[in-house]
Amino acid sequence: MRRKWSGRRLLPLTKVTNKHLLPVGDKPMVYYPLQKMKEAGVKDILVITGTEHLGNIVSLLGSGANYDVSFTYKVQDKPLGIAHAVSLGKEFIGSDDFIVILGDNIFEFDMKKLTEKFKSKGCSLVVLRKSEEPNRFGVARIVNDELKEIVEKPKERISDFVVTGVYFYKPEIFGYFLKLSLSARGEYEISDLHNFLIRDKKLDYSIEETFWSDAGTLKTYFEVNRRYGKL
Ligand code: G1P
Repeated sequence: MRRKWSGRRLLPLTKVTNKHLLPVGDKPMVYYPLQKMKEAGVKDILVITGTEHLGNIVSLLGSGANYDVSFTYKVQDKPLGIAHAVSLGKEFIGSDDFIVILGDNIFEFDMKKLTEKFKSKGCSLVVLRKSEEPNRFGVARIVNDELKEIVEKPKERISDFVVTGVYFYKPEIFGYFLKLSLSARGEYEISDLHNFLIRDKKLDYSIEETFWSDAGTLKTYFEVNRRYGKL
């Protein structure tokens, strides 16, 4: 599981705490992806986070005993992107299949079904969903049901299907990180990794229709709070 960096889009809320600790309904944001990891049957969880507010995260999550999981922590010193964060998990993962969930992705996908689908495919799998604002995300170009390319935050319309922050990976992906270079925004982009996998026919997709949002902007943060608020 990976939390996204400095929470610039939610300033000043994120000035004194980590974005993933902000409340969504009556719980910290990070509880939602954690619950989804558990639903997928994952109990051994690597938390990858930046240096800012690291102490707050450990104070909340601890060893994981309170959540019936085990947490290991890894620090991403600089905000070098999601692909870089995932690459830090190499030793932890070893030769296992694994799931990555971005810490601000709040969703209702059936993780048991998706895990079964992943197992039956024999390659990595990204979860797509229709979005009203696709160009804020990685967007999938699909031709005749085949995933051809993922374009990160495109300027023109590619499709309405965006790549969510829920990724099912084979450990073979670790062999691809050296091929990546920094993007214009100074990050190692997860979409670049996915495009290498697509070229080698090692990436499939699943389109889901249940609720999904990234809670990373003020607008979407309030949307998820409206949905999960109980007051
Ligand atoms: C990241 C990914 C993007 C993906 C999104 C999902 O975007 O780069 O491909 O669609 O997460 O939340 P970011 O939030 O880093 O801009």
